[in-house]
Amino acid sequence: MQSVIQPRPWRCCRARRIKADYQVARSSHAGRIAALYSRLAWLYDPFTDHELPHHLRAVELAAIQPGEAVLEVACGTGRATALLAQALGKDGRMQAVDLTPAMLAKARAKLARLGLLERVELRQASALALPHADNSFDLLYNSYMFDLVDSSQMPAILAEFGRVLKPGGRLVLVDMSKQGGGRTPYEWLYERGLLSFVSGACRPVLMRPLVEAAGFAEVSREYRKNRSLFPLNWLHGSEIVTARKPASETGTP
Ligand SMILES: C[S@@+](CC[C@H](N)C(=O)[O-])C[C@H]1O[C@@H](n2cnc3c(N)ncnc32)[C@H](O)[C@@H]1O
Repeated sequence: MQSVIQPRPWRCCRARRIKADYQVARSSHAGRIAALYSRLAWLYDPFTDHELPHHLRAVELAAIQPGEAVLEVACGTGRATALLAQALGKDGRMQAVDLTPAMLAKARAKLARLGLLERVELRQASALALPHADNSFDLLYNSYMFDLVDSSQMPAILAEFGRVLKPGGRLVLVDMSKQGGGRTPYEWLYERGLLSFVSGACRPVLMRPLVEAAGFAEVSREYRKNRSLFPLNWLHGSEIVTARKPASETGTP
């Protein structure tokens, strides 16, 4: 990912703490992201009102069957986790991980409020080193994470996703994206450091070629416009990329 550019001078205490987070552990991707999302957890849901319809569509595409083994990586505040747990049914059980304890706390509270907590095992973990055995899951769901991950780490994370999926298992990715390959007004603002705080350090990504390069099969992409109360979210869209781990033993991943 492009290095995080310093935001403009801040006035209130919370904003000063957020600014400090940008300066923490710049050499450590995980440390920087966890520090940033510790601060953003309280306002994540209200400012990402455009994401719910994309999750609804992505969960539909995931075509979850009762009894399937499901893992969500980077579950955040648990917005998609709740949808996945509902789709699994009352006897379903799933796993969800995230790097940031504050986001996991939000997810736990949300799932408890919705009566879904017993269906989900929440753990702190990095997408780069998942604490799960090879070939464990029928479905891996991951949303709005690759758009903040350093580009150099994407292949390793996709390989890790391939490792924990069963042969034939499904991958569903949802991310901030754009319609074509050109630079968008959003990216113009992002590159000048004008969005570092409000965007949660995210920028549009195009995951399909990377998923193909990682050896997944049946890769497809759906681009979707955002609808939001916040004009910033009108400057980009979202993509849903679905794929399957090859069923054959010899195929990668
Ligand atoms: C923009 S939020 C999205 C949360 C959730 N997936 C959603 O769509 O509502 C990004 C989340 O990714 C998590 N994250 C970032 N990098 C991660 C990594 N390497 N491993 C696990 N979680 C990560 C952050 O802690 C944060 O909760």
